[in-house]
Amino acid sequence: MFGGPYPWSLYCGQWSILPPAPKGNYLKDKVVVITGATSGVGLEASKQFADASPEQLIFAVRSVEAGEKLLGQIRKAHPNLQDKVMYLDLTDLQNIKDFSEAIKVFGRVDILINNAGINPNFDEGPYKSTKDGYERVFQTNVLSPFLTTLLLLPLLRKSSDPKVIFTGSDVHHIAPSDLIETALQNGQSIISAYNDEGKYHNPTRYYESKLLLQILSRNLIKTLPDITTINVNPGLAMTNLGRDFNLSLSPSGIVGILWFVANARSASKAARNLTSAAA
Ligand SMILES: NC(=O)c1ccc[n+]([C@@H]2O[C@H](COP(=O)([O-])OP(=O)(O)OC[C@H]3O[C@@H](n4cnc5c(N)ncnc54)[C@H](OP(=O)(O)O)[C@@H]3O)[C@@H](O)[C@H]2O)c1
Repeated sequence: MFGGPYPWSLYCGQWSILPPAPKGNYLKDKVVVITGATSGVGLEASKQFADASPEQLIFAVRSVEAGEKLLGQIRKAHPNLQDKVMYLDLTDLQNIKDFSEAIKVFGRVDILINNAGINPNFDEGPYKSTKDGYERVFQTNVLSPFLTTLLLLPLLRKSSDPKVIFTGSDVHHIAPSDLIETALQNGQSIISAYNDEGKYHNPTRYYESKLLLQILSRNLIKTLPDITTINVNPGLAMTNLGRDFNLSLSPSGIVGILWFVANARSASKAARNLTSAAA
């Protein structure tokens, strides 16, 4: 139900002491954009960012209604916060282009946090494509965060200290690498390998998406030396990422739930890895 088996490094990471949450006005004079702010790690990180006095905090979300609700909560504690909810659906490439145009009114972006992501679950499941014709997990977790980053480059380059943060995962360690290796051996593009319905394996797709995200973000570090790129692992956390999981009260289902509850940290603690990266 929750994938695995997981290496000992995952347990060591889960049970090691997190760095303290950054304090003070570390976002003063910063225009910050975060995707997936309506739930889980992104929601908790957004609350913590609001405490750090950003010049502008922009929630790029696919549910504007949920984003406005979140803002309502945050504004109670921070009535002077400069904030904005903007529509961004990562399964729609045209929408990402529209977003990158609309956000120009802010003049620059200092920190872009590509946090939104999905996990289709670890069962044998069907291949699903977006209306753009890309496999859904690949587009949401990899292609669209990169397109967002590339389209926002002109605004990031207007910052004196631009930073791009991707929310990765240490499960990239256990992703089978044969999808990428076979593509490279056969001269096939990695995009077509990830889109190939015949090669699609639902139980490992989330891991494969985080592996490619890791490879590409390491590549950005080299190709965009003027921008600080960080791939953050929030660690196993209690969020809504399992919304598509098939939770059952079978013996193995119960063991899976107990395993998760025993090892997962709160979304608020997990968000500290994002806020530390931003600080
Ligand atoms: N939870 C963990 O154990 C864990 C571990 C390692 C890494 N991560 C990563 O952490 C990140 C945040 O996940 P989470 O655990 O906080 O899960 P979550 O509670 O499900 O939050 C995911 C966020 O992404 C948004 N989102 C999903 N599809 C989208 C789309 N097509 N366009 C725009 N936004 C979209 C969701 O919006 P809605 O609210 O509208 O659905 C939600 O705000 C993900 O990248 C995930 O892979 C999580």
